[in-house]
Amino acid sequence: MTGAGEIFNELTGEIDYSMLIVTTAAEGKQAGCLVGFATQCSINPPRFLVCLSEKNRTLRVAEASDALVVHLVAADDDALVELFGSVTGDDEDKFARCRWHAGPRGLPVLDECPRWFAGEILERMSLGDHRGFVLEPFAGDCDRGGGSFSFRRAKRLEPGKPA
Ligand SMILES: Cc1cc2nc3c(=O)[nH]c(=O)nc-3n(C[C@H](O)[C@H](O)[C@H](O)COP(=O)(O)O)c2cc1C
Repeated sequence: MTGAGEIFNELTGEIDYSMLIVTTAAEGKQAGCLVGFATQCSINPPRFLVCLSEKNRTLRVAEASDALVVHLVAADDDALVELFGSVTGDDEDKFARCRWHAGPRGLPVLDECPRWFAGEILERMSLGDHRGFVLEPFAGDCDRGGGSFSFRRAKRLEPGKPA
C-alpha cells in the first residue's frame, strides 16, 4: 500500500508544466530563478500566480520588490535553464553569465527570452514551503520565439537551493 504523500509525489512528477524564469530587483539587488510552480489564475482581470521557495535568494529580493518579470523559455535553451535553476545568486552573479537589459522599472529582462511579462505584485501569501505572489501584468513582449521549456526536460537538474 502506498501512502498519500508518495502517490502525490508520483502524480505531480508526471505533470509536464512549462518552466519559467522569474526575475526581480529591489534595493540595488537583482535576482532570478527557474520556476515550475506558476499558473494563470484569472482571465478578467488578468492574474498570474508565481510560487517562490523560501530557501531561494530570489524570494528575499522579491519580498522587497513590487514587481516580478515572468519569462517563457525556448524549448531547447538548456544552458539558461541550468543557470537559473541550478545556480543560486547567493554563490554567483547569474546576470554576469547571461545577456539582459533593464526593462520596466529597471527590472532585469533576459535577452534570450523575447517572450515575457512584468507583473505588479498584488498579493503575497504563505503556501507551505513556498510563498505565492499574485501578479497583474503591466508590460511585456511576445513578438518573437515560440515553444516552451518543459518540466520533463528540466527535472534531471539539481536545484541551486535544495527544496
Ligand atoms: C525543475 C525545477 C523546478 C523548480 N521550480 C521552482 C519553483 O517553482 N519555485 C522556486 O522558487 N524554485 C524552483 N526551483 C529551484 C530554483 O530555481 C533554484 O533553487 C535556484 O537555483 C534558486 O536560485 P536563487 O537562490 O538565486 O533564487 C526549481 C528548480 C528546478 C531544477
